[in-house]
Amino acid sequence: MNNKTPEHIAIIMDGNGRWANSRGLPRAAGHRAGVKTVREIVKASAELGVPILTLYAFSQENWKRPKEEVAILMELLEYFLSREIEALRKEGVRLKFIGHLEALPPHILNELHKAVESTKNNKKLILNIALNYGARTEILDAVERIVEKARRGELEMGPDGRITEEIFSNYLYTQGLPDPDLLIRTSGEMRLSNFLLWQLSYAEIYITKKFWPDFTRDDFLRAVHEYQRRERRFGDVQPVLVSGQ
Ligand code: FPP
Repeated sequence: MNNKTPEHIAIIMDGNGRWANSRGLPRAAGHRAGVKTVREIVKASAELGVPILTLYAFSQENWKRPKEEVAILMELLEYFLSREIEALRKEGVRLKFIGHLEALPPHILNELHKAVESTKNNKKLILNIALNYGARTEILDAVERIVEKARRGELEMGPDGRITEEIFSNYLYTQGLPDPDLLIRTSGEMRLSNFLLWQLSYAEIYITKKFWPDFTRDDFLRAVHEYQRRERRFGDVQPVLVSGQ
């Protein structure tokens, strides 16, 4: 038992398409229903006192989907940001985005900047949305930036002259955020799907068969309770007391 509220929860929101299929609806209806779940889980995180929530909203691989589906996902994101931002701001939510953001359509990028700017002083919950995200690209981007810094002779090194894990983490998109303690994936798939490969090294994993649109506040609480029952050993034999625990 660690009994602590996770400091950072990451979620792979999966199963929108199957949810829609099982009801004879178009895939877009599944994504629309998925946005409602996003709203509910953001609220639940804030109420529970989880300080950071990272959602996998659009992967680099998702560009391979039919053009119409990509357009719908972008529209929903834009809709979410424009319609919900005021409510999120009032609830103390700070928005952040991770991923290869420059490749997003300019009007979306503009919405992202506005959302980040208008919520930057909020403290209750960091809502970190992964967009055009791929973990391998994130790691390669970090390596490139490190090489560039070294070339300029500006790279800081660890005490033994090597790059430490802490230094490397500072070059990732998640710079400044602690690693997720808990990863939730819906729809029963047992894969990481190129999500936060570095950051999830020691995360507890919770998989539910429910499709994302069916995932409720109670399911979220169940995942957190399950996390609290687990002992985290980080490779040691005894449970390890993590700072704040
Ligand atoms: C996976 O379901 C879900 C996605 C690829 C997109 C998730 C996006 C949203 C919930 C809406 C927009 C997000 C925000 C943050 C407002 P899938 O389509 O892969 O489902 P399937 O595996 O059943 O086909």
